[in-house]
Amino acid sequence: MVAARLAWLLAGVGLLAQDPAVILAPVDGTTVAPGKVRIVARAPGKATLAVDGKPVAMTETVAGVVHAEVELAAGKHEVAVSGGGSEAKISVTVGAGANFRVHPPGLVGCDTCHAVKNEAWALKRATPATVCAQCHDRAAFVPAHTHNTDILADCQNCHLPHGSAAKAHLQKPKETVCKTCHNWPL
Ligand code: HEC
Ligand code: HEC
Ligand code: HEC
Ligand code: HEC
Repeated sequence: MVAARLAWLLAGVGLLAQDPAVILAPVDGTTVAPGKVRIVARAPGKATLAVDGKPVAMTETVAGVVHAEVELAAGKHEVAVSGGGSEAKISVTVGAGANFRVHPPGLVGCDTCHAVKNEAWALKRATPATVCAQCHDRAAFVPAHTHNTDILADCQNCHLPHGSAAKAHLQKPKETVCKTCHNWPL
């Protein structure tokens, strides 16, 4: 949460552009179902997306924010994003036993949750919680959570908004995600 606030403050003075490249979906080391694979990534500056070393057709909505839908053959692939002198790489397997699930499924565009504000990538609504509430009934998700609304407000502290291999689209399996903030044995 502190990191999110800090990122927001830094974005205000344009320092966020220094953040290293990152691939947001799929998740490294996961298996995806055959068919079209959605790649979502970011790099500090104009970005290039490559699969197995070859550049792929992509959409760059605002400098550094890219996504693509690619058809991949069964087997292991390397996905890379680079830009502004920074590079991130992940490995994904296409085939049976898929564990990575895109969130939300279907033909949902980035603009369901995002908008470009002051030439920077931002959320469409004031907070992550209001973005999520477009589709998730607050009354239904609150009972599944034990935290107060301060902690709950930053959904991405525990969930991956673009897709995950863990149950309930968590960042990591429940036992591990809790330990990012709590050090008691669970
Ligand atoms: C279901 C809602 C949702 C959809 C759809 C969505 N995002 Fe996001 N995205 C989020 C949330 C929530 C965050 C976290 C924002 C934060 O940390 O303040 C985020 C963060 C990001 C970030 C910043 C991550 C970082 O670490 O800097 C990028 C880049 C991004 N999304 C790109 C995309 C692209 C491109 C698409 C379309 C292919 C997309 N998103 C679709 C909800 C969504
Ligand atoms: C455009 C509509 C839409 C938005 C916006 C949206 N979701 Fe979802 N979400 C879905 C759909 C549809 C599913 C069910 C399919 C699935 O599990 O992928 C789902 C599933 C989930 C699940 C798993 C539920 C389960 O029982 O396993 C979680 C957790 C979740 N969303 C969290 C979020 C968070 C956090 C946000 C905000 C960053 C968000 N969602 C925004 C449509 C949406
Ligand atoms: C502190 C971590 C944490 C935060 C923050 C958090 N969640 Fe969750 N969420 C969880 C866990 C853990 C589960 C899974 C519970 C289970 O199935 O065991 C979950 C489950 C869900 C589900 C599935 C609900 C169900 O009834 O099974 C939805 C939808 C969801 N979260 C949405 C959100 C939204 C929207 C936000 C932000 C407003 C949010 N979560 C913030 C940890 C968190
Ligand atoms: C983003 C950091 C963060 C994550 C991740 C997180 N917690 Fe917490 N948790 C807190 C904070 C801060 C408090 C104290 C304030 C409150 O109650 O909301 C707390 C309080 C609690 C409490 C109340 C008892 C106590 O010790 O104060 C429980 C139970 C709890 N968390 C369980 C969990 C579980 C289970 C998970 C994993 C699904 C989890 N938390 C993940 C930050 C987090």
